[in-house]
Amino acid sequence: MTARSSFVTVANRLPVDRRIEPDGTSSWRRSPGGLVTAIAPIMQRRHGAWLGWHGAADEELEPLELDGMSLVPVPLSSEDVELYYEGFSNATLWPLYHDVVAPPVFDRAMWDSYKALNQRFAEAAAQVADENAVVWVQDYQLQLVPAMLRALRPDLRIGFFLHIPFPPVELFWRLPWRREIVEGLLGADLVGFQRPGGASNFIRLCRRLLGLPYKGNEIYVDDRTVTAQAFPISIDFTELDSMVREPEIMARAKEIRAEIGDPEHMLLGVDRLDYTKGIGQRLEAFGELLDEGRIQPGEAVFVQIATPSRERVEEYRRLRDDIELQVGRINGEHGILGQAPVQYFHQSYDRRELAALYLAADVMVVTPLRDGMNLVAKEYVACRHDLRGALVLSEFAGAADELRQSYLVNPYDVEGLKRQMLTAMRATPHEVARRMRALRRRVSTHDVDRWASDFLTALES
Ligand code: ADP
Ligand code: F6P
Repeated sequence: MTARSSFVTVANRLPVDRRIEPDGTSSWRRSPGGLVTAIAPIMQRRHGAWLGWHGAADEELEPLELDGMSLVPVPLSSEDVELYYEGFSNATLWPLYHDVVAPPVFDRAMWDSYKALNQRFAEAAAQVADENAVVWVQDYQLQLVPAMLRALRPDLRIGFFLHIPFPPVELFWRLPWRREIVEGLLGADLVGFQRPGGASNFIRLCRRLLGLPYKGNEIYVDDRTVTAQAFPISIDFTELDSMVREPEIMARAKEIRAEIGDPEHMLLGVDRLDYTKGIGQRLEAFGELLDEGRIQPGEAVFVQIATPSRERVEEYRRLRDDIELQVGRINGEHGILGQAPVQYFHQSYDRRELAALYLAADVMVVTPLRDGMNLVAKEYVACRHDLRGALVLSEFAGAADELRQSYLVNPYDVEGLKRQMLTAMRATPHEVARRMRALRRRVSTHDVDRWASDFLTALES
């Protein structure tokens, strides 16, 4: 029997994945992605219940307490994983919402599964939520939950936050189930987006698709008002800022540089291995700089950390092959014995090792073709209290709205990318510090606590 809670978060994933080790024992590992990075500290501080899938199929688990959070696992069968998670969520919605950088799959069986799973999450939330509770539904996997939950529990205050971009009307229009998705979201009292453009895309859609009246950011649905507004998500600045001041992390950062041959410039990329992240574009730029002799092997090393992600989805498999081929080519052509210009790792790292990597890197390269926010960019800024380190950032990341003093790039423009990477590498310490100081001012004053309290205050008012 699950205890009822006055504050409930519903997300596709729990903050941890259950792993079965080769010896048959089980363990918990942090789940990938920015949603977990942002929501976990909020849930630790507010002591609500977190409903979500625990990352393994065909397994029913009891609620549990972990790291100060009350977790309520929602089970998924292998078929649910294939149709709802890998299918409709990640082969249909993910590419459609990210500027169609890969072709979306429109499949009716996947849609049926998405609907059924959203109903399952809504029913689970209805069970856990106390009378008049606040329920916060997260992300594109659960867009039908707000309306389904409202039908079950009209007493609740329901918020929804979309962590990824909300596309322009012209792209969203392709979705055969566009009406159902919009009606699902309108079950919430407050629908949050990363950027103001996402909120206005949604409002336009409500008018064009459903003919709903609106004023400013308020949409009028029957006798209710739904607010659509931007709340740019952020990180726990203080946690990272204090972590990188620990002597152990500082020593590890030095060690990392020594391990890669103490180059003059260490460039770093940290991403889930996802085709929206522009990993191929940044490697192409780096490879060309070497081809053209504008940087020398040994002078610069590019460390690319790529977390395994959605590995059974076709586009992700293809991406992995492409990236690994590209890394092999660059290293084959420009490597010298004992030294590869690109150091590529298809692995997950713990937070402390990531912090040391951020602290070690001279240039952080974040080049998504489209991204809701991109927390990696903000994490890098939080780690550079030494005011060293330059951030190269795509204009197509939500973070570009706030991090204006980074070296902004259009990742589709390889020449521009090469130019900005070189400019960042060659900038004077004074210029690097000037930019980093401004970036840190922004991220430290707009951290994840402020994001959550802005959202929840708007929801509760
Ligand atoms: P997304 O949500 O699309 O994955 P974000 O940049 O917003 O993108 O968030 C990624 C989160 O995952 C960050 O908190 C980052 O530190 C973490 N992360 C990325 N790569 C790794 C990795 N290899 N190991 C551990 N954590 C990672
Ligand atoms: O918003 C980014 C996001 O898609 C989250 O919803 C998700 O939890 C994370 O990235 C990682 O993706 P996945 O859960 O598919 O591994």
